[in-house]
Amino acid sequence: MLEIDRIYCADAFEMFPKIEDGTVDLVICDGPYGVTANRWDRIPSIQEFNLELIQIFARKLKEGGALYLFGKPDCIDFIDYRPYLNLRSKIVWYQPSRLAQGRINYTNNYDIICYFIKGDKPRVFNLDAIRVPQLVELEHRLRCERVPSVLNGKFGRTKFHHEGKNPGDVWGDIKQLTYRSKELVSREFLNTIQKPAKLIDRLLQASSIEGDLVLDPFAGVGTCPAVCRELNRHFIAFEWNREFAATVNSRLKKVNNDLAARLF
Ligand SMILES: C[S@@+](CC[C@H](N)C(=O)[O-])C[C@H]1O[C@@H](n2cnc3c(N)ncnc32)[C@H](O)[C@@H]1O
Repeated sequence: MLEIDRIYCADAFEMFPKIEDGTVDLVICDGPYGVTANRWDRIPSIQEFNLELIQIFARKLKEGGALYLFGKPDCIDFIDYRPYLNLRSKIVWYQPSRLAQGRINYTNNYDIICYFIKGDKPRVFNLDAIRVPQLVELEHRLRCERVPSVLNGKFGRTKFHHEGKNPGDVWGDIKQLTYRSKELVSREFLNTIQKPAKLIDRLLQASSIEGDLVLDPFAGVGTCPAVCRELNRHFIAFEWNREFAATVNSRLKKVNNDLAARLF
């Protein structure tokens, strides 16, 4: 059995057997994409690699638990994940600031976040915690409310909500980090890894509640553990790079200090 709320500096695949089956509420899997020259990112078939992960997470998750799997657009192409988990959405994380220098093709400027659940019904989907502003004018909004539903022909299924709308499955409102981002933990690490806290925050808020256990198997510099701490979620995190794992610990210390300072 593993201790919770700590980062283990280890190979995730050696650690998975130590997690009891059916105990994890949510997995945030931001591991290899199979596209860079980093040693840890050189994966012969990213799809087969992801299928293995999906099989492992299906065992570790509770019924209704969620997995968010990051990757490139083809990251789960031609593999059959259906016996293990239920794919609910492929979220497009759109990054307009990415340098787009293709000459003979359209340059890829988004990542995919595959949202899976175990079983048919999510344990948690906190829509109210992740609503985004409605950016349409009043007349359009009112007219849309009068359009009958495609499914049953009844009216009123697309009601305006004053707290905002569902963020949908294309997210262009969360910017990739740049060298000027205040939250960047190190300018050296930028190219390979760190995700914006706001992105991880949305996933955690949507698919977990306070006290839940979140597994972050490829923790990098610890965005997920840091946000878990802020949101009162428990976590188990793995990262085999010593320097990164040490960074996760200092980041967690800083979050603890900030939280303590807010109490006084
Ligand atoms: C994309 S990064 C994660 C970034 C993280 N979400 C953040 O915001 O800092 C992937 C990380 O997985 C680590 N990694 C890759 N394979 C691993 C393995 N088998 N076990 C543990 N860590 C691994 C890499 O060292 C890298 O830091």
